Amino acid sequence: MNISIQKELPEHNHAVHKILTTCFRTDAESKLVAMLRINDKVILSLVAVYNREVVGHVMFSPVTTSPSSIIKGLGLAPLAVKPEYQKQGVGAQLVREGLSMCAELEYDYVVLLGDPNYYQRFGFSKASDFGIQNEYGVDNPFMVIKLTDCNLEKGLIKYCPEFSLFSV
Ligand SMILES: CC(C)(COP(=O)(O)OP(=O)(O)OC[C@H]1O[C@@H](n2cnc3c(N)ncnc32)[C@H](O)[C@@H]1OP(=O)(O)O)[C@@H](O)C(=O)NCCC(=O)NCCS
Repeated sequence: MNISIQKELPEHNHAVHKILTTCFRTDAESKLVAMLRINDKVILSLVAVYNREVVGHVMFSPVTTSPSSIIKGLGLAPLAVKPEYQKQGVGAQLVREGLSMCAELEYDYVVLLGDPNYYQRFGFSKASDFGIQNEYGVDNPFMVIKLTDCNLEKGLIKYCPEFSLFSV
């Protein structure tokens, strides 16, 4: 499949909304994405385009650490691929190109809450192995990947406050 990964434009917003409401059980993810856009919290939002159709989406927003740190991180969420285009590598292409653009933007690491069986292939590993916790108190699915040779510092990582408004 000849997929192109592009920065999301306003004209893609509707298609992204449809993908999110189709892929997730509730509209929490689509409301979160809309709120992150309104509040100018989006660092990177990418769409996967096939034959001029938007078939996938990934978003990156800033995270903060406690204690505070000079190294800069992003949270990857959400990631979604239209059901009929799943299991053909679209998700992988969005994650790989997304991580490479985050590195170009000089971010040091990316975190996510997700299935380790899927995300380990991109180099994500358990955040707790680095002494990194998250505000949701989950262990196994909180993962991190370093984009630079920074030293990840122990502490608590928080997503943007918009994440607490919705149960994603
Ligand atoms: C999670 C999700 C984004 C993955 O997207 P995807 O495009 O299907 O992902 P990929 O194609 O990269 O990989 C999925 C599987 O397809 C396999 N695959 C990749 N390319 C393939 C190809 N050309 N032919 C057959 N299988 C392929 C991968 O090996 C992988 O298999 P495995 O995980 O069972 O080992 C998608 O399933 C989705 O939208 N899920 C609902 C929303 C969600 O849960 N998002 C994640 C949490 S935020």
